[in-house]
This record gives sequence, C-alpha cells and structure tokens, in this order.
Amino acid sequence: MSTRSNAQELISAQERRQEHQLSYSMRWTDAQHDFLRSTADIALFSGANQVGKTIIIAADIAMFLEGRHPYDQTHAPPVKVLFAGHTWAEMAGTLEKLWGMIDKRRFKETIRFEGGSLKGQKIAVYDVISGPGKGSQLIIATYAQGAKRISGMTIHRLLGDEPLTKHFFGEAVPRLLRFGGHMRIGLTPTLDTYAALDWLWKLVDDGVIEEHRVELTVANVTPRGGLVETPWISAGDIELFESRCLPAEVEMRMGRSRYAVAGARVIGRFSPANISEELPPGGARVTVSLDHSKRPGREVATILVDAKVKGAHRVWVTSVAATAKHGTPVEFARAIQTALRDDLGITVADVDYWIGDRAAVSGTGRWDNQTVIDAFREILGDPLPEHLLAMETPYKYQGSATDGWRLINAMCAEGHILIHPRCTTLINSLRVWEGLASAPEKDVLDALRYGIVLAIKSEYTKQRPEVRFR
Ligand SMILES: Nc1ncnc2c1ncn2[C@@H]1O[C@H](COP(=O)(O)OP(=O)(O)OP(=O)(O)O)[C@@H](O)[C@H]1O
Ligand SMILES: [Mg+2]
Repeated sequence: MSTRSNAQELISAQERRQEHQLSYSMRWTDAQHDFLRSTADIALFSGANQVGKTIIIAADIAMFLEGRHPYDQTHAPPVKVLFAGHTWAEMAGTLEKLWGMIDKRRFKETIRFEGGSLKGQKIAVYDVISGPGKGSQLIIATYAQGAKRISGMTIHRLLGDEPLTKHFFGEAVPRLLRFGGHMRIGLTPTLDTYAALDWLWKLVDDGVIEEHRVELTVANVTPRGGLVETPWISAGDIELFESRCLPAEVEMRMGRSRYAVAGARVIGRFSPANISEELPPGGARVTVSLDHSKRPGREVATILVDAKVKGAHRVWVTSVAATAKHGTPVEFARAIQTALRDDLGITVADVDYWIGDRAAVSGTGRWDNQTVIDAFREILGDPLPEHLLAMETPYKYQGSATDGWRLINAMCAEGHILIHPRCTTLINSLRVWEGLASAPEKDVLDALRYGIVLAIKSEYTKQRPEVRFR
C-alpha cells in the first residue's frame, strides 16, 4: 500500500513539475499579461498576427479549467468552459496548444457528444477527470451550432480564437453574464472577415467590450521577466512578414487597423502594357492550368505559353476556357480543346504541361483533375496524351499564394506577361481583385498563378519543339 502511494506521489510530483514547465512558467509579453489581467466581462485581444493570441487563449482556458487562473478566481472547479469557433478545423490549432498546457491524461480519453441527435449538431465535451480541475468540462462548439445548443447550459467562461458571429454573441453573452462568467476573444481581422465585424467594433467603441489591440512590433513579441528578453520574431522577420502581406490586408495583419485598405489591388502592377495580341514564338512550351472552383460549374482554365526572350522569361496568356453556369465536365474539356485549336492552332496532344488544383472541398458536385481527364477520355478516347494523364497539382506551402502574386506582379511590371485581349474575364480580375478569397475573380487568377509558377519555377522540357502557333 505504502509503496503504491509513494509511487503515486512521485508521479504527481513529476506531473506537477512538468506542468510547471508548461503554462505556469511561461513568460508573457506585456500585452498578453494585460489581457490575462483583465477583469472586464468581455475582453478582446485584437490586432496583428503572430502576437500570441492563440497561446494566451489556450493558456486562459487551461488555467481557468483547473482553477489556477492568476487573475480570475470568480469560479472554482468544477467549471464549464466553452470554446467556440467557426469550424473544428480552425479550432484544432488552439486545442493543440491547450494539450501542451494541460496534461492530456487529465481528460477522459473519449470525447462525449451532447445535445441533439442531428448529425453535426452535437457539441463535444472533454471531461476533466483528474488533477485540480477534476469535474470541469471543456465544451467545444461551432458558432453555427452553439447559439442553439448552449441555450440550456451554464457556462462560466467563453473563449474564441477568431471573429465570432453577431448572432452567436447575442445568444451567448446574456447567458454567460447571468452566471458571472467572462468572455475572452482573440482575433485578427482579414479581408474575408473584417466586413462582418462592424457590430463588434461598435460594442468596443461603446465600452461594452474591452479591446487590447496589439501591433506586430518587437516589443509585442518579447516575453518579459527572463534573464534575457528575447523576441520570438526578429525585427527583420517582422519586416519580411509585412512585405508579404496583401496590400489590402497589411494594415489589419500588422494590427494597425480594423479595416482593409480600400482599392488596394493584389496585382497592382498589372497595366494596359500587359495586354497584347502578340503570338508566342513557335516551339515554346504550352501549359494548361485549371482551378476547380468551390462554386460547382465555375471551372476555369488558362492557357499560357512561355519562352525565354533575350534571357528573360516571358509568358503569353492566350486563352481562358470556362463553362457556362452548370456546365458539364465534357463541356469544359471541349472549351479547352476549342481554345487550343482556335487561339493557338494546336491540339490537346501538343500541350506540354497540365496542372490543376486539388479539390478544396470533397463531396458531390466537386470536380477534380480526374474529372477533367475523364471528360477528355469521353471526347478523345484512349489512349489519352501522356502529358494530360500526368496532370500535376500545385505545390503549396505557407505563403505560396503570396509568393505567386508577387511573381505575377513583378512579371507584369517588367512587361513579361502578355495577355491576349480576348481574355476579358482574366483582365478584369487582374484589374479589380483586392484579395477576398470568396470573390468571383479569384478562380481565374488562381488558375493563372498555378500555370505561371509552374512555367517559371520548373525546369521542364518542351515535348514537341516543332509545334508552331496559328
Ligand atoms: N509568451 C510567449 N512566449 C514564447 N513564445 C510565445 C509566447 N506567446 C506566443 N509565442 C509563440 O509565438 C508564436 C505565435 O503565437 P500564436 O500562435 O499564439 O500567435 P497568434 O497571434 O495566434 O498568431 P496568428 O495570428 O497567426 O493566429 C507561436 O509560435 C507561439 O509559440
Ligand atoms: Mg492564432
């Protein structure tokens, strides 16, 4: 018996030490510390990217669940903490950081689903079964389901790590405050979210929500209190980050503004000098690049030819192929085939490279590269051209889209992109797009980007140097 309890003591001592090395020994930036210390009913950690919003939200959840919040002792465990966000995928990052702060063994292994039998309507509950937070619950809900589902719940603290919806806020807050609970939100507005946040800023301006707005500066990424105070991002990297933001978004991502910069075009260097009827030189490589739109039936392909001219890489965009609304894959394939024939005088077999995005959303109605290959099979029959069968997907990495836009901008500025005037949707999109992901202009620009990045970055070879255009 005694050996066992000694062992148990040892384990819990070890656990305590481990824990100490995690959240409780973390040093905070002044901004993070101020946020933690807030006693406001609703506090918002807003402003820049990378200033430690997610970490502080995760730490707040961890400490509150276990009754160890240094500044909020309003409720002792067992407590109910609600963590809400738009999608599970978006909340996963915060939860991951949370598991680094509370030993996951303190939670019951299986997640419980509560409230409602409809698929997708259930709320996930993580039960704390040991440690100082024993009996507490971490409840995870999306904004869409939360407003309905939390109606019967007692919640002691509510946290979010991204812009919340007005509807959810309206339903959740009175319930929360009734039990003396508090709300903590982290957010960086983006092009895709800022327009829907006016109601929130009004509450901030009216003093209902306490805002902690944090800019991305060296001081704001430097934890205080250590022997040496070292920022987690250097001044140089902050500059690099800023230079990589979309022009329309940069003020929001740096924490300097709540709003997008109006009229800041992503491809600001595109000009009439980039519109030309010039035919590409014979023997140049041909690339067809596809974007499988999130809006079914809005597939789009760009056809481009690239060659070195006096040592510089030049791209001629000769056609944009698309289907009418609700078009079929075969109609799409035919549109590509027709454009190749009419605009360049070549066949599907003369195309050197095919590239198409992965299907971003799976499910019915979605097309992918295979859908297009199958459609060509219906038209052309087997065997299909080898290059078509070898259709690639774009290489993506953190910042790959921004890098692509920068490349296109640089090429436009130097006159190395020439777009045929018949490509009206492309030209219009280049002129107006400000970076909104949901904008209809984005699809054709994505297709263009995949094609140009492939053409410029890869060392592929021409399959048929004898092919002449028109
Ligand atoms: N107090 C701290 N001490 C040390 N590192 C920290 C601290 N706070 C944050 N970090 C580190 O800084 C990075 C950014 O933190 P975090 O992800 O919380 O920022 P964020 O504001 O949520 O960023 P984003 O806007 O990209 O979501 C992470 O790698 C995190 O580990
Ligand atoms: Mg974050």
